[in-house]
Amino acid sequence: MPKKVARLDDLPEGATKRFSFQRDGIRVDAFVANYRGEIVAYENLCRHQPLSLDYGDGQFFNSDASLFVCQTHGAMYHPKTGLCVEGPCAGASLHSLKIEILDGEIQLIDF
Ligand code: FES
Repeated sequence: MPKKVARLDDLPEGATKRFSFQRDGIRVDAFVANYRGEIVAYENLCRHQPLSLDYGDGQFFNSDASLFVCQTHGAMYHPKTGLCVEGPCAGASLHSLKIEILDGEIQLIDF
């Protein structure tokens, strides 16, 4: 069963939104982002240490919205691939989530 996570209209370019879902009864924190017109979604879990990328404030992008930045030690991830391109976990990747857009709603699928 898909889970609605955001309305496309509410996620303009450079915007992000936190959400959570249940997997095998365990809460998973995640976020969805509009990176240059492309909608991407990842688990909100840094690959350096098991911490969220943001401080709970929904801040994921760097200042020019070209990379996601972990607020704790500054790991930088490419928004399109989730690959850590700089920082203590360079070479590791965020866990991506599958989404689809239906009737203007961004939905999480296969989670
Ligand atoms: S916890 Fe994210 S860079 Fe260290």
